[in-house]
Amino acid sequence: MQPQPQPLNYTNAAILAPMVRIGTLPVRLMALEYGADLVYTPEVVDKGIVGCERVVNEDNGTIDYLSKGVSIFRTHPSEKSRLVFQIGSANADLALQAALTVAQDVSTIDLNCGCPKRFSIHGGMGAALMEEPEKLCGILKNLVDNCGLPVTCKIRIFPDRERTLKLVKMIEATGIKALAVHCRYRDERPREPGHWDRFKEIVDAVSIPVIANGDIKEYADMARIRELSGCAGVMIARGAEANVSIFRKEGRLPLMDIVRQYMRRCLETRNHHSNTKYCVMQMFVEDTKSPYYKPLCEAKSFRAVCKVFDMEGELDAWIKKQEEHGWPTDLDSAPRKAAESKEKAAKNGKAAVAAAAIVEMATTDSTLGKRKQNDLKDEIPAGASVVEVDGTPVTKKHAGGDGASSQPTPADTPQPDVETEVETTTSIPLA
Ligand SMILES: Cc1cc2nc3c(=O)[nH]c(=O)nc-3n(C[C@H](O)[C@H](O)[C@H](O)COP(=O)(O)O)c2cc1C
Repeated sequence: MQPQPQPLNYTNAAILAPMVRIGTLPVRLMALEYGADLVYTPEVVDKGIVGCERVVNEDNGTIDYLSKGVSIFRTHPSEKSRLVFQIGSANADLALQAALTVAQDVSTIDLNCGCPKRFSIHGGMGAALMEEPEKLCGILKNLVDNCGLPVTCKIRIFPDRERTLKLVKMIEATGIKALAVHCRYRDERPREPGHWDRFKEIVDAVSIPVIANGDIKEYADMARIRELSGCAGVMIARGAEANVSIFRKEGRLPLMDIVRQYMRRCLETRNHHSNTKYCVMQMFVEDTKSPYYKPLCEAKSFRAVCKVFDMEGELDAWIKKQEEHGWPTDLDSAPRKAAESKEKAAKNGKAAVAAAAIVEMATTDSTLGKRKQNDLKDEIPAGASVVEVDGTPVTKKHAGGDGASSQPTPADTPQPDVETEVETTTSIPLA
């Protein structure tokens, strides 16, 4: 057994939740800038990261984990001491390999045991692990004993209190350093209210720090939930997706300030256009009548997104500087790469590799209204996107989708899902 590393400090910690597509590097950096103490990566499925090549980018110091030229995970040394890398896994060996792959660039390894999506459940990952506590604990124990970093996990709750408490005690006994609890049952949707009343009994049942998650929508909610439950840390997802300055104790900044600052962070980190556009669109999801929303939906390039916010001058200045140094300026070419890898995967007769479908998902122009988008968020099957047909939102299948797809998905094939996929700061060709 390796010497146990120091865990992060969870006491009074404000934490950016793991969020597929949203929690990419620019959003994580902004969350830290506005007061988050810790940030989680989006879930990355074990097989998606194992075998990746680690590359340090000369221009901005970011670090990419590349699979066939596609960035599965991008980080920057400035976030390392506060960065939790979340793994999706159903296999103790693969989970460990995944953790060891990124260990030098992150502070903690987290296992996602709460994802209720079809893709996760079919693969025996996410919330499916809660049904198999021995397996769940086996994965955690292997990580705790061998990965050399503190290990944590994120769960949902069972409707049955006793069953929940039995599980959290088993999990604690593996030696993990903190437990994040999303206070919903596996089958509850985000629009259904979370069970804040269930945190305290979990906090009382274990000695490790508990991180409360679910429906924390205002800065002041963090103090309320701490008082109510005695939890150590508080984790926010959708509140940060809408406006990442939710972590500011002085109050949120106006959305336009956030959007512009976010675009700057995207330039600094060379975030791909499709992910940039997706994240900005999510910021406007509460205000689809905004004059910015339609032009944003129609924006087909990073420049087009900049134009919507009158930021072309900043883009030109950035390009000039990059060119002076001979550094890359391409922020738009991922879909081509994705198409290539999709084509390749199709030729192989396999489900498309995760990255291909993910980039396509992230690139899809959604003109759906807020309610439809929110309602559908939970229902989109892996490898599919939502399009409107005669005003009706429908899911459009892509190669590699599971569930609704005509092809059964092998349990061991990494597939994207709304809550489970690789990062989409992808495919930026490196100099
Ligand atoms: C866009 C989005 C992506 C998510 N991706 C993940 C993920 O990768 N891993 C995970 O454990 N939970 C994921 N979640 C769930 C959140 O981490 C969180 O548990 C849930 O949204 C409840 O918190 P909230 O009420 O603050 O939104 C995701 C949620 C959203 C909205």
